[in-house]
Amino acid sequence: MSISFRLDGKVALVTGASRGLGAGIAEALKEAGAIVVGTSRDPESANRVAKRLQSLPVVMDVTDIPSVRAGVDRTASEFGRLDILVNNAGVNIPQGVFDVDEQSWDSVMDTNLKGAFFAAQAAARHMVDCGESGRIINIASQAGVVGIEERSAYGASKGGMVALTRVLAIELAQHQITVNAVAPTFVATELTRSTLEDPTWRQRVLSRIPLGNVGEVEDVAAATVYLASSAAALVTGHTLLVDGGWTAW
Ligand SMILES: NC(=O)c1ccc[n+]([C@@H]2O[C@H](COP(=O)([O-])OP(=O)(O)OC[C@H]3O[C@@H](n4cnc5c(N)ncnc54)[C@H](OP(=O)(O)O)[C@@H]3O)[C@@H](O)[C@H]2O)c1
Repeated sequence: MSISFRLDGKVALVTGASRGLGAGIAEALKEAGAIVVGTSRDPESANRVAKRLQSLPVVMDVTDIPSVRAGVDRTASEFGRLDILVNNAGVNIPQGVFDVDEQSWDSVMDTNLKGAFFAAQAAARHMVDCGESGRIINIASQAGVVGIEERSAYGASKGGMVALTRVLAIELAQHQITVNAVAPTFVATELTRSTLEDPTWRQRVLSRIPLGNVGEVEDVAAATVYLASSAAALVTGHTLLVDGGWTAW
């Protein structure tokens, strides 16, 4: 039997790789053998990411669709191919239902959902040209599967990502491109700092995770490497919950 999680010879693009989950995912894909390009909105930060990954600096704001297309195209033309896209860039603006304003709603939806779709569209064009199997992995959230307070826009965007994952999986299957999502529970990053530093919220979070702890960046990176690898060749349209059992209740 030959099962491999190696990604040697593959070219991967990770959106939002300057910190948190994106930085960890990019590092894990590189450790698995891939050439990895990681993006940031900030040119200096993009340079730091490129240095860390020994690849190309790509400045990309996923709410700016021309910049998404340019970053995807530049990666594919620099390395002659694109095999793996990880749609990781994301934001959350926690707000109660009566506090949600239109600007916050649009910002969350444009970043988490619209940006991911157009990155997938741009990447899939190169994967089709390449004529080999491609991988699109969307970093969704358990908040796209179950309701979590103060996350109307965030939950809607991540639920949209779960639905989008299924549609893209069906449409792109004919090109041997698999499309899956990873849906983590709370992981300590910049995004969740204020929530997890609030003792009431932290207790609320921990009480809902049967395994008793929040996630680590490695938990999400491992799931992503699996879905990117040939070991997951027959898995598509799936949302892999990495949630310590939150959604198993
Ligand atoms: N942490 C968690 O508990 C958790 C749980 C479930 C799902 N997730 C998801 O995992 C992903 C990463 O979250 P994280 O916790 O690592 O967050 P983070 O530490 O805040 O990092 C967010 C990343 O996204 C990038 N980003 C934000 N807005 C962007 C935009 N408009 N265009 C391009 N890049 C943008 C940032 O890059 P620059 O600022 O450098 O541009 C940064 O690298 C998100 O999609 C999030 O929803 C996180």
